[in-house]
Amino acid sequence: MEVSDAIANRRSIRKYTGEEVSDNDIKAVLEAGRWGPSGLNNQPWKFKVLKGKVKDSIAEHTRYGHIIEAAPACIAVFLDVENSYNRDKDLQAIGACIQNMLLRIQSLGLGAVWLGEILNQREKVEETLGVEHELMAVIALGHPGEEGSSDRKDMGELLLE
Ligand SMILES: Cc1cc2nc3c(=O)[nH]c(=O)nc-3n(C[C@H](O)[C@H](O)[C@H](O)COP(=O)(O)O)c2cc1C
Repeated sequence: MEVSDAIANRRSIRKYTGEEVSDNDIKAVLEAGRWGPSGLNNQPWKFKVLKGKVKDSIAEHTRYGHIIEAAPACIAVFLDVENSYNRDKDLQAIGACIQNMLLRIQSLGLGAVWLGEILNQREKVEETLGVEHELMAVIALGHPGEEGSSDRKDMGELLLE
């Protein structure tokens, strides 16, 4: 799939078929994240793949828990606090890393949604998962059970004179 097609056609997918996501596909998604750009190439991210009971254990910490439960897999993305050099730049790098993963998911014919509301209960999620890094997002992914829909502002609203 052309990158331009992945960008243009990607939409958040919040409903999934019951089909599992293969380990190979998850590995490919993590690889895409690993190759994200970062300031000083410090690669300030850590990933945790969540499936089954462990995945469902964090659902109670967000009002989007039903999406986590419905998804066959989630990837929790953390800021590697020991490897952080500039918070602003590290957060930007994490965003690029996550977008890389979303586009790879799209190119694999899978669907995903970036869950950020769960950060309201970040500490509870970190404790539940036993991870000593700062939660940045949870990506819920699976085989699409819906067509996403979203629109964008016109370019004219975005371009500054
Ligand atoms: C930082 C961030 C946090 C988000 N948090 C949530 C969330 O908690 N729940 C959710 O359903 N979607 C969440 N989204 C997905 C957005 O709602 C979605 O990207 C936006 O509405 C545009 O739709 P699209 O992804 O289909 O283009 C989040 C997206 C970003 C980038």
